[in-house]
Amino acid sequence: MANGQALPRDAVVAVVGAGAMGAGIAQVAAQAGHRVLLFDARTGAADDAARKLGATFDALASKGRMTVEEARAAAARIEPVHTPGACVSAKLVVEAIVEDLQVKRELFGDLERIVAPDAILASNTSSLSITALAAGMKRAGRVAGLHFFNPAPLMPLVEIVRGLATEPAVSDALFATAAAWGKTPVHATSTPGFIVNRCARPYYGEALRLAAERASDCATIDAVLREAGGFRMGPFELMDLIGHDVNFAVTKSVWEAMFHDPRYAPSPIQRELVAAGFLGRKSGRGFYDHGTGAAVPAPQSLATANAPARVAVHGEPGLLAPLIERIAAAGTTIRRLPAHPMFADGAIDTGAGWMALTDGRTATARSDATGAPNVVLVDLALDYGTAKRVAIAASDRCDTAATGAAVGALQKAGLAVSRLDDVAGLAVMRTVAMLVNEAADAAMQGIATPADVDLAMQKGVSYPRGPLAWGDAIGPARVAAVLANLAAHYGEDRYRTSPRLARAAQTGGRLGA
Ligand code: NAI
Repeated sequence: MANGQALPRDAVVAVVGAGAMGAGIAQVAAQAGHRVLLFDARTGAADDAARKLGATFDALASKGRMTVEEARAAAARIEPVHTPGACVSAKLVVEAIVEDLQVKRELFGDLERIVAPDAILASNTSSLSITALAAGMKRAGRVAGLHFFNPAPLMPLVEIVRGLATEPAVSDALFATAAAWGKTPVHATSTPGFIVNRCARPYYGEALRLAAERASDCATIDAVLREAGGFRMGPFELMDLIGHDVNFAVTKSVWEAMFHDPRYAPSPIQRELVAAGFLGRKSGRGFYDHGTGAAVPAPQSLATANAPARVAVHGEPGLLAPLIERIAAAGTTIRRLPAHPMFADGAIDTGAGWMALTDGRTATARSDATGAPNVVLVDLALDYGTAKRVAIAASDRCDTAATGAAVGALQKAGLAVSRLDDVAGLAVMRTVAMLVNEAADAAMQGIATPADVDLAMQKGVSYPRGPLAWGDAIGPARVAAVLANLAAHYGEDRYRTSPRLARAAQTGGRLGA
């Protein structure tokens, strides 16, 4: 392995910590053909985990995912052991114990005295510094992060994390090994949150701010992020799944590790949920009620409004072009007119008022800036051609006829319409702009290559598009403008633009690979 090659199949792997992650990692390694030693400090935990893995392999065989012989062989390769000393033959040890630096350091100190000098010691930590973990060890160069995602057998991504002392041959060997195990590995440096847990912060952070500002209820914001944004899960349902104790701890750890940079600041809402014991699904209540028989709240969709017979599109529709095509295909006549002086970026005149894409300002701010009382802003969608839903916001002075005309045109084109309070940047646009910004900063700081940042977010948290590629699709200049407007709206450093994004906006360069 010293030459950066994958661990040979006949090499022994030890997994320390037989909890949710350790058991999953043991399954992956055993399925890949390795003999796996499984150790846990709690008596009986490794035996229980090995038994459950046997049942998992049987279930996979009965579903036809592996043959009965393969299932038996994989189960037989997992051997529970009862002392750390029993890991002596391991060429790779993967640690998945409690998330505590001191406890992990003690374990690593013991392990390096047990295993051969050329063995690799890997940690599945999701938030601790690999550099700090290895500090003081005799062979700190043999230590690296091997960060799986939950559930480890199903999630493809593995972050290979280099501490300051990690030997390149070690991270290369782990990369090759994870690839040989059928995973999608990416290299990352030991920085707070690595790639995914850092770049995903805005997905929760912006949603929590929208909730704090009472933009709408959680079910509506979740539906907008899913059905317009294209995300697999909305932020509130996802936080309920992760658990607020875990998500709050990760948020705080990244924020503290970044010396309280306001971009990563946790929300008081998270602290309240944790204080109440409303931890999400696991405690039966979080943002949602998960008790037995509890109804899933429906998102708010506006009642059907009359569509105008015709609308006028002023200027270049830009990102809204597929939406306008959809409106036209539904039978609304479209007239094309030159850009209107009030809306240089393009806008739609519905006959009763104006409809435009959010640029990070509120609809009321756009109304004040243009003098047009009736302004309806449309939120971003991943793909307006196929989106099921779109969010809108209306200026304070907007009359019901203007809102109704905009809503009617969108509904006639087959979209459910959710009206949010007049928040800056609506929901999808501000979330995506912040995701793009964070990814641009991570790439600028060399935490990972732009291609790996995008790959990690798609394979680790199932984003519909890599954030950098998404930023290129929206246009770096537009993303930067949204952030500048959010920064002006809030007067907070949180929305400062990444220099990499600002540069791409100025030069017309690309963010992604
Ligand atoms: P868990 O609580 O399910 O399992 C931890 C296991 O480690 C327990 O069985 C415990 O008895 C054992 N343990 C604790 N101290 C030990 C020691 N000194 N020696 C041997 N065994 C010890 O925890 P989980 O969720 O599996 O997490 C494990 C690690 O994986 C943590 O570092 C966590 O941050 C990381 N991780 C967790 C993810 C998740 O979604 N749960 C995702 C990715 C990483």
